[in-house]
Amino acid sequence: MSVNKKRIAFSGLICCDALFTVEGYPQEDAGIPCDNFRWNLGGNASNNSVVFSKLRNWHLKKCKNGNSKDEEIEIELLGTLGNDFPANFLREIFDRENIRHDRMFFDPSVKTPVTAVILNALNGSRSYFHYTDHYPDLSLEKYVKYDLVNYDWIHVESRNNIKGIIDMVRYVRSKQTAGSSKPVISVELETDHEGLSQVFDEKIDYYFVERDFGHLKGWKDLDETIQETCKLVKNEAYVIFVWGDEGSRIAKVSNGKIIGPVGSTPIFNPKSKVVDTCGAGDTFLAATVFDILIRGSKPEDAIVFGSKIAGAKVAMQGYHDLENWESYINH
Ligand SMILES: *[C@@H]1O[C@H](CO)[C@@H](O)[C@H](O)[C@H]1NC(C)=O
Ligand SMILES: *[C@@H]1O[C@H](CO)[C@@H](O)[C@H](O)[C@H]1NC(C)=O
Ligand SMILES: *[C@@H]1O[C@H](CO)[C@@H](O)[C@H](O)[C@H]1NC(C)=O
Repeated sequence: MSVNKKRIAFSGLICCDALFTVEGYPQEDAGIPCDNFRWNLGGNASNNSVVFSKLRNWHLKKCKNGNSKDEEIEIELLGTLGNDFPANFLREIFDRENIRHDRMFFDPSVKTPVTAVILNALNGSRSYFHYTDHYPDLSLEKYVKYDLVNYDWIHVESRNNIKGIIDMVRYVRSKQTAGSSKPVISVELETDHEGLSQVFDEKIDYYFVERDFGHLKGWKDLDETIQETCKLVKNEAYVIFVWGDEGSRIAKVSNGKIIGPVGSTPIFNPKSKVVDTCGAGDTFLAATVFDILIRGSKPEDAIVFGSKIAGAKVAMQGYHDLENWESYINH
């Protein structure tokens, strides 16, 4: 039996969250007892890869029950890991989820980014401190190590690394086999970093545009963000707009014009109550990519799948039971 192997790589922030749950919020120079504390997975890239891993478990179990051909799905994280306690905590999670991290750059001087989250249990408000100083984003010399053309899909979160992303895309496109569409490249846009508009000139297949991006650009709503963003896209690409409780939209664009199906999806509410909405956006993104890459769905259908998985996610803490997403939602 031939094995159909798919490889996907995620690059972006790999972070550890320290989550404190308190009744109220401390005054400056004062403290209050903390009801609950836990270390948590954080960062878009690490979250995306864990969601992808949970869906892989779900999918492979289904294939075994059916009579489908053998499939192998390899998930890899690209980036740097340090040698501190949070990095080791993350390594354990990646090992448990069978996410490849053995080719990450090991730099003992790197401090793992940490976010301290104070969750006020009285009203659900969340306050954060971020520590992400000196966390190295990938530049081309580093990307080259990964044999980038051997992936089926490369997803990158745009941070303060626009040059790194552009160099990587150009490098991949110059190396890939003529006529091949592999690898698919997707980029998530959230913050309007310096030089960001240049990514729209590159041969990128999917853009995930977050609501914050539209706000930062000063566009008044989703419709204006769709109009204005699509004008910027030089090549042929799908642009997916992730709009929180308003759901998501997708447009196929070429040369600054919308040419393809403009699909949309609402959000899906879980059968039981919402317990944790953190990471719902990461879930939507990873599940949408999963549906396109692994299940061969059309992008306009994949955003509906992504939205359902995100709807199931909010009914559980973290992602622990995401492989059983079907029991959390009417689908
Ligand atoms: C929650 O309570 C804190 C005060 O304890 C207040 O500052 C904050 O604005 C409240 N947040 C929400 C979302 O109600
Ligand atoms: C990525 O992380 C940021 C917080 O750093 C969050 O606001 C954003 O929604 C995440 N992206 C997605 C697709 O969830
Ligand atoms: C990543 O996922 C964790 C677990 O669900 C969540 O607590 C965290 O807020 C997410 N981080 C981002 C940046 O989305």
